[in-house]
Amino acid sequence: MSIHHAGWRIFRRHGELVIDCEWPLLLIVVGLRPLIRSKTEMQPTGSTFAIVNQKGGVGKTTTAVNLSAALALLGHRILLIDLDPQGNSTSGVGASKGAGLGSMYDVLIGADPMFHVIRPSPVPRLDLAPSDVRLAGAEVELVPAIARENKLKKALKRIRDMYDVLVIDCPPSLGLLTVNALTAADGCLIPMQCEYYALEGLSALMTSIELIRRHLNPGLRISGVLLTMVDPRLKLCEQVAEEVKRHFGHQVFETAIPRSVRLAEAPSHGQPIFAYAADSRGAEAYLSLAHEVIGRIGLEPRWMERGLVGVAGPLATAAATPSEDGGDQTDG
Ligand SMILES: Nc1ncnc2c1ncn2[C@@H]1O[C@H](COP(=O)(O)OP(=O)(O)OP(=O)(O)O)[C@@H](O)[C@H]1O
Ligand SMILES: [Mg+2]
Repeated sequence: MSIHHAGWRIFRRHGELVIDCEWPLLLIVVGLRPLIRSKTEMQPTGSTFAIVNQKGGVGKTTTAVNLSAALALLGHRILLIDLDPQGNSTSGVGASKGAGLGSMYDVLIGADPMFHVIRPSPVPRLDLAPSDVRLAGAEVELVPAIARENKLKKALKRIRDMYDVLVIDCPPSLGLLTVNALTAADGCLIPMQCEYYALEGLSALMTSIELIRRHLNPGLRISGVLLTMVDPRLKLCEQVAEEVKRHFGHQVFETAIPRSVRLAEAPSHGQPIFAYAADSRGAEAYLSLAHEVIGRIGLEPRWMERGLVGVAGPLATAAATPSEDGGDQTDG
């Protein structure tokens, strides 16, 4: 496509919009460039992932926080939705819980629209829809509600297109909150701790996913299974990884998250791993996972297009050059 006019020409080259014009007009074009760029950038896809496993402590929240931060570092616009009453994702990105502001509880009971509760996080391009402890009561309060499984899906409708990826951190149960997450999601990402009982309870999770697919969300896919807290020195870990791969085949992400002291410490500082220990193996692993995720959903890393604008020093370094382990330790 190209448009010609006296003294100027607009055409597309390698997918980029090029404006070729005379000197006085060039000044105006340069002034308008940010506006033109934002109009011609890729449209957000609104891909929604639920991080789900009804087993407790398998790395759902660690994955939700650090995958969201990694995707934001790669230049994507991300919304992290904390649907767990424990609110660990909320504090994990440095936001305060229940500070008198709206939360996902208000959204689910229909008191507030999503855009009233969404707040920016300290990570550029990462927004947060926080949880608070009242969310625990939502499951009970929603029981008599009509279409109670669709509350989240409906709430996300108007804001979904503002983000490239939405990540939902689920609680450790298959109750109404998780059902809402799976009904709203395009795909689920299942973290599995590399331990002897990793596959225990999996049939209940698969049954829930199948039921939701059949009755509420036919498009729901398993976007990937993620091995977490992997210690390559342990033979048991290797055996569990092999068994999970036998069960899920290509659905298992090539990236495995190592057991890492830095990853365990970061939440107590209210920081994603890229701010707390950007040169750790945990940071490297979550960045690699982010690349796999965007590859699976067909997104291009935006940072090539925009540069790492607004990204703090250590965060930018991690995104640009994932490095070797810098003093990180693996638990014994
Ligand atoms: N790769 C890792 N290496 C070391 N510790 C980890 C790792 N991933 C998570 N942890 C730690 O394990 C604990 C459980 O992790 P996390 O909170 O992410 O699990 P969860 O599945 O969200 O738990 P819950 O079911 O209670 O919500 C946390 O203390 C976390 O810091
Ligand atoms: Mg959690």
